[in-house]
Amino acid sequence: MKRFHQIAIDGPAGAGKSTVARKVAQSLGYCYLDTGAMYRVIAYKALEAGIPLDDERAVTGLVKNTEIYFKHGDSESVFCDGKDVTNHIRSKEVSRAVSIVASYQGVREQLVHLQRQEAAKGNVVMDGRDIGTHVLPEAEVKIYLTASEEERAKRRYLENIKSGKASSLEEVLRDIQKRDRLDSEREHDPLKPAADAFILDTTGLPAEEVVRKIVNIVRGG
Ligand code: DC
Repeated sequence: MKRFHQIAIDGPAGAGKSTVARKVAQSLGYCYLDTGAMYRVIAYKALEAGIPLDDERAVTGLVKNTEIYFKHGDSESVFCDGKDVTNHIRSKEVSRAVSIVASYQGVREQLVHLQRQEAAKGNVVMDGRDIGTHVLPEAEVKIYLTASEEERAKRRYLENIKSGKASSLEEVLRDIQKRDRLDSEREHDPLKPAADAFILDTTGLPAEEVVRKIVNIVRGG
């Protein structure tokens, strides 16, 4: 049976994964799947429903009753139970809650199942934290994107300003450090490079250059 091509892009917050993964997918004519957005949808729904984030059972129970849907166009929109939540899931509150939600094994198992179902539909570029190590261990190409903490914080800060979100650079840096710690120290599928991943440090590199390098790797260059 033919298996579709899979490109896994992992790395810490602010490493440029989504920008780069989206452009790599465009260049190759592959579908792009932002797995972080799926964890964010669950965090958003838990906050909206007033579910305490430390109630693992209740948060885990939310997943099977949630319909997550992506609409792909010039940019992709994310829907939760039919509502467009593309902007809501990027709020400061969701960004602070999501690492807790993503640490729950039951949440992860259900979302990983959905991610693998998506990958079975066609050629895909998927970004996240555990794509190369766990979700798609047989991906043809695995990339681990990283950049200095300061640069990652600066990128997030500039993104926030562009989308009208108020925050100081110091606050963004603190949030990124906390999230990195939670994501890489959690028990289930923590953030770490796959043994066979190409490690790309994007500090000081424009996104186009990173995209070019990855497309070259995919094409065997
Ligand atoms: O990439 P992002 O910032 O949108 O990810 C949101 C959170 O979800 C982040 O704290 C890590 C978690 N995540 C994960 O645990 N596994 C993934 N495959 C993707 C994201």
